[in-house]
Amino acid sequence: MQERLSLNLGWLFKPSFDQGEISAPAWDTYQPITIPHTVKELSYNCFSHDETAMVSSYVRKFTVPETYRGKRVILEFLGVMARYQLYVNGEFASEHRGGYSRSRVDITGLLHEGENTLFLMVDSTEDRQIPPFGYTIDYMCFGGIYRDVNVIFTESAYISDVLLRYDLEGTTAQLYPEIQLDNAAEAFWARVEVEIQDPEGNCVHRYENQADFPAGFSNPILDKHPVAGLTLWELDRPYLYSVTVNVIREDGTTVDRVTARTGFRTVLCKPDGFYLNGKKRKLVGLDRHQSYPYVGYAMPERAQKRDADILKSYLHVNTVRTSHYLQSEGFLSRCDEVGLLVFSEIPGWGYIGDEKFKEVSHQDIRDMITTQYNHPSIFIWSIRINESGDDDEFYAKSNEIAHSLDRSRPTTGVRCIKNSHLLEDVYSFNDFIHWTREYKHYRELVLQNQQSVTGLPYKVPYLVTEYCGHIYPVKPFDGEERQLRQAQVHARVQNANYARNDAMGAIGWCAFDYQTHGDYGSGDKICYHGVMDIFRMPKYAAYVYRSQVDPEQELVMEPCTLFARGENDDNKPIPFMVCTNCDYVEVECYGKNIGRFFPSLVYSSLPHPPIMVDNDPGTWVDLWQGGTIIGYYQGKEVLRRTYSRDAYLKDLKVTVDDTQLHNTVPDATRVTAAFVDQLGNPLPYYNGVVCIETSDNLDVMGPRTVAVVGGHIGFWVQTKPICRKEAGYVKIRAINTDIPEKRIDFTLCPDDQVRVL
Ligand code: GAL
Repeated sequence: MQERLSLNLGWLFKPSFDQGEISAPAWDTYQPITIPHTVKELSYNCFSHDETAMVSSYVRKFTVPETYRGKRVILEFLGVMARYQLYVNGEFASEHRGGYSRSRVDITGLLHEGENTLFLMVDSTEDRQIPPFGYTIDYMCFGGIYRDVNVIFTESAYISDVLLRYDLEGTTAQLYPEIQLDNAAEAFWARVEVEIQDPEGNCVHRYENQADFPAGFSNPILDKHPVAGLTLWELDRPYLYSVTVNVIREDGTTVDRVTARTGFRTVLCKPDGFYLNGKKRKLVGLDRHQSYPYVGYAMPERAQKRDADILKSYLHVNTVRTSHYLQSEGFLSRCDEVGLLVFSEIPGWGYIGDEKFKEVSHQDIRDMITTQYNHPSIFIWSIRINESGDDDEFYAKSNEIAHSLDRSRPTTGVRCIKNSHLLEDVYSFNDFIHWTREYKHYRELVLQNQQSVTGLPYKVPYLVTEYCGHIYPVKPFDGEERQLRQAQVHARVQNANYARNDAMGAIGWCAFDYQTHGDYGSGDKICYHGVMDIFRMPKYAAYVYRSQVDPEQELVMEPCTLFARGENDDNKPIPFMVCTNCDYVEVECYGKNIGRFFPSLVYSSLPHPPIMVDNDPGTWVDLWQGGTIIGYYQGKEVLRRTYSRDAYLKDLKVTVDDTQLHNTVPDATRVTAAFVDQLGNPLPYYNGVVCIETSDNLDVMGPRTVAVVGGHIGFWVQTKPICRKEAGYVKIRAINTDIPEKRIDFTLCPDDQVRVL
């Protein structure tokens, strides 16, 4: 049976490549590293977009442990940017092209007794034959072995993937798993046992089938088998089952056994909307890039997963688009667990290259569908290069590949052009009309009618996959007015999204700020398009989404104001907007209650329209007294926020996502630190500096002395898996202040799920 061990530790790296070292590495010229790894840590901003474009070398000594002697040895790479060549003991083993897809290499035949040498030449230059490269791209791809590396020890035959195919009617699934098996020996016939377990691990159904497995790769599909009484996967109850597939030879010995996880649900995309389990759902989402400050993509899974939590539980959206590439297993698994729908996309940005480029793109589609098939959260495959032109021959083949691998999900492709040839099941469109019309010609048009986009004489399933983004970038330190403007654009588009019935939904550009090439961004290589900044700290636009949650689930009241008299034109703190799901708010200002304010009719299609507070009773010579905003729900006061006339620096508010981390694998969590006044309100214009200190078993990913951006900072703390101590700490000191040092204590324990070699 296969056993998977992590091979993230024990690597050596150097940022150059010399052909001669393939067979004879100059060991002492390398530095020890752990994976995930980036070829070069960048500064927060103002780096050169070429800094990570290099050819580098990774080496590792590798000995097959005694227990696995005689087994097949497969190396598994989950993400290497952008092309690698693997050599084992100086012999070429394989090449992989594509920075976002999984690859596996059987190295059994190249190994010898005792110590072996693995050598990886990693080419992180922007090769125009590998998507997304070839022209300009509005995002950084970084470089290196940035996702996990594993080694799989198996018998001569092993299950490489199980695709849990099913048809669902009511709560009964006709299950027909596809077993992808890699057989290095003779053909055989086998019994296949299938067992379905509920989330507690109880067996809810078991049955048997049979299949022939020829030599080489085969992928028999088992007969359809009914499984009744299932609990469906829903957004508010993301129920997941495990399915174990056991392949047993005639003589009773197990060939291989794997367990995969899935959820049972139906998805349907129609011209009038999107249906999950037969119920219509308006898709409200945000696009996500997987990059982080300093280390780019090289962020351990725990932090990747956290993004799914932020989207679902903080921003309260129901959909995410993996713009513009295959994202990590950890992120997708977490989307399954929290009930967040995923629009999964292949790599690419505007450019279609030559035949080799197209081959890689088609391979990306195969890899995406094979490796991500079992995620119930994924409702659609986006198989065109984002915002590329029409190329019917290329895209007809792309659709054919996707449909032949998966009949249960629709295909789509994201366009910025109108009247594009629709070869997919859903027409997806990036609708930035409110820029061209509203701001240029002073006409309000928020989203376009679908037929004016598709040019078709009839309606088709249609989805808006981007809006806002570059039309209104906002930095964390931008003033109230600009922050408010971005929030209002998001509110207006989502209002139109809710109001229309000719689209499945709208996904906004984007969740988090991201690093980019010099062709884009604010001159500092950052696109400030997020509703949250790169540290995942909210801007006002985030509150528009956050406040749409059912108040019975969470009460939200986020004022889009600093409540300071001189921040806006003419010394006026009012008008301002409050994003809330309260029934109304009351505001106290200039020492008196200035009234009760209700959800704005401008956004009346939103479940919880923001409230405009627009009754400024004062003049600039009046004594400013700060103010209070009070939220009421069902007649009762539920939330209150008070602002001081004399806000002064009082504290550094520190939060941490996790205080328990693993010390056997590289593991990471986020810490945030925000300067606040004496009432706990943020001070976005305080330009302080913080120093970070850690116990010797923890590392900071990035610099340890940092200036805040917009009054706050976020950083990620990573465990050093070579130190097995059970406790660690982080201390944060705000220099040049009286604020007492902050300390976070961590407990560290082994990761039982991951065995390390
Ligand atoms: C789109 C593109 C995105 C991003 C966005 C900025 O055209 O698909 O990747 O660049 O613009 O608003």
